[in-house]
Amino acid sequence: MNDRSVREDWLATPGAALAGEVRVPGDKSVSHRAVMLGALAEGSTHVRGFLEGEDTRATARVFEQLGVRIDTPSPSERVVHGAGLHGLRGAGRALDCGNAGTGMRLLAGVLAGQGFDSVLIGDASLSSRPMRRVIDPLIAMGADIQAAPGGLPPLRIGGGRTLHGIDYALPVASAQVKSALLLAGLYARGETVVREPHPTRDYTERMLAAFGWPVDFAPGIARLHGGHCLRATEIEVPADFSSAAFFLVAACIVPDSELLLEAVGMNPRRTGLLHALRAMGADIGEENLREHGGEPVADLRVRYAPLHGIDLPAALVPDMIDELPALFVAAACARGRTVIRGAAELRVKESDRIAGMATGLRALGVAIEETPDGAIIDGGRIGGRIGGGEVDSRGDHRIAMSFAVAAQVASGAVRVRDVANVATSFPGFVSTATAAGLAVAAADTNA
Ligand code: S3P
Repeated sequence: MNDRSVREDWLATPGAALAGEVRVPGDKSVSHRAVMLGALAEGSTHVRGFLEGEDTRATARVFEQLGVRIDTPSPSERVVHGAGLHGLRGAGRALDCGNAGTGMRLLAGVLAGQGFDSVLIGDASLSSRPMRRVIDPLIAMGADIQAAPGGLPPLRIGGGRTLHGIDYALPVASAQVKSALLLAGLYARGETVVREPHPTRDYTERMLAAFGWPVDFAPGIARLHGGHCLRATEIEVPADFSSAAFFLVAACIVPDSELLLEAVGMNPRRTGLLHALRAMGADIGEENLREHGGEPVADLRVRYAPLHGIDLPAALVPDMIDELPALFVAAACARGRTVIRGAAELRVKESDRIAGMATGLRALGVAIEETPDGAIIDGGRIGGRIGGGEVDSRGDHRIAMSFAVAAQVASGAVRVRDVANVATSFPGFVSTATAAGLAVAAADTNA
């Protein structure tokens, strides 16, 4: 679901073996946070590898509206001239987060600590996503936040409140909620402690430390005190594992493929898909392991290998929450049954991804049963091939790219409807994919 007036479709057809080297765009989570912390820091933060996606650009635009100067010396580069922790000023109009749940939830934490009022809005998809999970603990910290009925955006955030730290156990594992509370904690009196039912990505914690803010963290817990200051730094954004995921799966399922994915972010809270694919028989090697700005990075060499189904351990789900649509495709092409459970969060992402993937795969002849928190997929029925046909991405970038991958091993062409939203996370997907050997192109939407 999105508000775009221009509709875009793709026509994806069975492609050639994938070959060569691919560098996918910068990490979305890291790019959002680099702009946010850079904006709140003293001094100028240089960000290289910034994701030129709609989501992260929306976040940069919001901070510009809040009075922060952000220069773009070249594409994928930003210099954020920090306003300091107390230097933002009210925008006097609504702040548009576009499609970005990360943008809105983290901003709620930042804005709860300001001296001015703010309103956060988003597109149709974001306007239907749950915000109670972030509003309730922020209110417990002393924030003034009102949402539309059902706890939905827009969020009206009253300024001038005194925040105090809380010790909060998250009911649902969510890096966005954890990060919102830590960012509000910068402005709070005393200590803010966030405990998670499963560890989630820790970019906020790592980046706060890189900006010189004392923060204590280990998998499943993070704590900090208010009252320090952020000092500008340099940030090199690794390539986004979630964008690399589509190529990992494509090279696993298209016979004779061998592909090198360069400088992929390997934060252990993101790489669950690697473990899942390897358990299914994938041949993926990690080369040239190194660090970029405190984040582990590697080149991933992936070769075609026949996959088999698995019972996905629920504990792995938070480490691959954004990669599950791609895993659905791998499972559809694997021999035997794959069972996915413990993934109810997929129903409240940019779209209901369980329903979107199940409906689309079924339309391509795959035997898939939807469950409340996952799916049961019987793959590899026709020698690993799935059928051609038409699928609706529901305006969800990750569903669109997953079906472009599925089409590479289909017995006929696949029309993927409503793909414009891919620009939120992966600008240039079609040209990157085509260069790697995938057959996917823009299609006449009236056909
Ligand atoms: C993100 C956290 C995840 C993920 C999202 C980005 C982040 O959401 O799905 O794409 O940058 O913190 P949750 O933390 O809500 O699971």
